[in-house]
Amino acid sequence: MSSYTSMNAAELQEELSSLMQLYKDYQEMKLSLNMSRGRPAKEQMELAQGMLSCLGPEDMTLVNGTDVRNYGVLEGIPEARKLMGDLMGLRPEEVIVCGSSSLNIMYDLVSHAYTHGVYGGANPWCKTDHPKFLCPVPGYDRHFAITEYFGIDMIQIPMKADGPDMDLIESYVSSDPSVKGIWCVPKYSNPQGITYSDEVVRRMARLKPAADDFRIFWDNAYAVHDLYEDDQDHLLNIMDECKKAGTENQVYEFFSTSKISFAGGGMAALGASEANIRHLSQQFSVQTIGWNKLNMLFHVKFFGDRQGVLDHMKKHAALLRPKFAAVLDILKQEVADIASWNVPKGGYFISFDTMEGCAKRVVALCKEAGVVLTGAGATYPYGKDPHDSNIRIAPTSVSVEELRLATTLLCLCVKIATVEKLLQA
Ligand SMILES: Cc1ncc(COP(=O)(O)O)c(C=O)c1O
Repeated sequence: MSSYTSMNAAELQEELSSLMQLYKDYQEMKLSLNMSRGRPAKEQMELAQGMLSCLGPEDMTLVNGTDVRNYGVLEGIPEARKLMGDLMGLRPEEVIVCGSSSLNIMYDLVSHAYTHGVYGGANPWCKTDHPKFLCPVPGYDRHFAITEYFGIDMIQIPMKADGPDMDLIESYVSSDPSVKGIWCVPKYSNPQGITYSDEVVRRMARLKPAADDFRIFWDNAYAVHDLYEDDQDHLLNIMDECKKAGTENQVYEFFSTSKISFAGGGMAALGASEANIRHLSQQFSVQTIGWNKLNMLFHVKFFGDRQGVLDHMKKHAALLRPKFAAVLDILKQEVADIASWNVPKGGYFISFDTMEGCAKRVVALCKEAGVVLTGAGATYPYGKDPHDSNIRIAPTSVSVEELRLATTLLCLCVKIATVEKLLQA
């Protein structure tokens, strides 16, 4: 910022003209890159290709006699509950393996709670005038879309370096019975890559809600998505902490293999207390006879056990590290003085902050030059970033060469938007 802020209007104008000239060169390149969503790259998915040929006719009947090709076993096959439980730090009885999308489970749980209530709650959420959710920001747009869809009011909670602002959360949760839940991505959060500290997890587990039907939606989507073997974040097991505090019915945990095996074709799980699992199984039994057990078996056969998954994720990390490095290097070289960003140790995103009031303009400029980023504002409830500064960079699905090009363009657009803003001041 220093170099631009020390320029007078004429100098800024001159700078803008030369930046716009460079921008025109990019437009002429007719780029077509999409960095809007956290998708795995083709090479990552190919790592799990062997899964599709790992089952033979002899595998169709499980040790307990279940034929995986037939209906039934709503909670998921025992082998899959064990594998997902081991990955989530839960016992198999605390896990339901359902379908291939954890977001779908989250939607279902909000829906059931809204129309029929949660275990232990006197009324469905819809009976509350203006039910509310706490939303750590910046956060995951699809979480916010679910609560917006049900007309649940969203209260923003600022993220700190070690997780969301717990003072604020405690005060809302303990004083307001219309606060029904909170969205959390506790490890390598989307988009900031922040992992909640032990203290934050403990305070979360010890929340004393005014509502009798409050739930923590603990979306551990990036639980095993470490970039570095020797420098990984550690997340405390919230269920263990809840059990110590006697609050185990207050948390719903989510996990999936969407970014381990196949996105949209993976295995997704819900983790909860046994009382919740019993209650939710009954609710689920209205909507399905059972999820895809063949897919569960594919996963169990291919990965074997938790260690098998962790070994597989090392291969993902090897593909992703150069991508994150490429983006981070260019950002550092180009815009260190006019923007800020996080340096994640895992997950799928880099959270990037422009000078206040510039994000929308940057995203629009990138789009006009052929690079689609996540919409500015998407990381906030209702798509409205009060500072218009946060941009989520998703570096996983494009090649390193394309990323270099796209990030250099992004930096150029950040410079243009910053100079324009200063000229307006
Ligand atoms: C935090 C978070 N939760 C959930 C999902 C989606 O998970 P699934 O594919 O299991 O529905 C994503 C995908 O980007 C995510 O970032």
